[in-house]
Amino acid sequence: MSVAPAHRPRVAVSRTGLPGAGVERLAARFDVVDWTGTHPPSADELARVAKGCDGLLVLGSDRVDAALLDAAGPDLRVVALASMGYDGVDVAAAAQRGIVVTHTPNVLADTTADVAMTLILMARRRIPSAVDALRRGAWGAFRMDAFLGLDVHNATLGLIGYGQIARALARRAVGFGMRVQHHHPRRKEDDELSRWVPFDELLRTSDVVSVHTPLTKETEGMIGAAELALMKPTATLVNTGRGGVVDEQALLTALRGGDLHSAGLDVMTDEPRTDPSDPLLGEPHLVVLPHVGSATEATRAAMVELAARNVEAVLDGRPALTPLPGTPGLAGRVISV
Ligand code: DGY
Repeated sequence: MSVAPAHRPRVAVSRTGLPGAGVERLAARFDVVDWTGTHPPSADELARVAKGCDGLLVLGSDRVDAALLDAAGPDLRVVALASMGYDGVDVAAAAQRGIVVTHTPNVLADTTADVAMTLILMARRRIPSAVDALRRGAWGAFRMDAFLGLDVHNATLGLIGYGQIARALARRAVGFGMRVQHHHPRRKEDDELSRWVPFDELLRTSDVVSVHTPLTKETEGMIGAAELALMKPTATLVNTGRGGVVDEQALLTALRGGDLHSAGLDVMTDEPRTDPSDPLLGEPHLVVLPHVGSATEATRAAMVELAARNVEAVLDGRPALTPLPGTPGLAGRVISV
């Protein structure tokens, strides 16, 4: 008597050619089908790839909503993000369906903190304007008053949010001779790197304010005109979290009015920004990077690898390694969040 082959689970991957060996690892155990288009898949395209899958590996910029979960079908047990941020996911819709959602803490904090520190140095020392002048042949004679920035050492860094990336930045900042303070709405504790301060005090007393909160209904637009007005006119704002936390128009107004020294953004609303005449890209005292916080070969490979291990764990019936905070890591547990 022949035994029917066991169902080999199917895993959909929202991009082709992801770094590292994570997808290969999945392909050794599961039927992997990936989106092979040269552009990121639209909602309909992603739904077609996801149809009938047991697991889904996506990027932070992909939208995972109820429609996608339903299009995937009843076998879907896990959505693994190859990202730390999960603002593109309808967490409640997944929880109602007993689908585990995972993300990638523990593998990208240092790499992203390097970029936050880079933005602080670039913005405060006005490095992009100096490089630009050099490239235009406008260096001129050495002048004592040319290309002047503000010191980073002895400056006070204020961290909004105090998770893994913020703490990794605090470690770097201490090495650069900065004083560090932070605000977290619930964990009102000092530690060896930083002291907790109220939100308004942080804005008023910091020379550099760095944003490290996830994007949620509560944090959307949390740095707007009123908050920027509290900051010192000599201060620098840095954002390596999510674009929606900072009101970009209010930021441009503050920079143009001389109410803020400088800013550095690795994240923006409506990414990618591809219009060269975009006011955000041409603002002299604003350094903008194309969302490269975690972009090293090793870290991006580690993110995909962790996402793959999460898929594997859940499809094997084990708890996910890194489920979203406050959610169970086992498929089939229906909860409301
Ligand atoms: C993250 O991990 O959230 C980064 O922004 C890349 O998506």
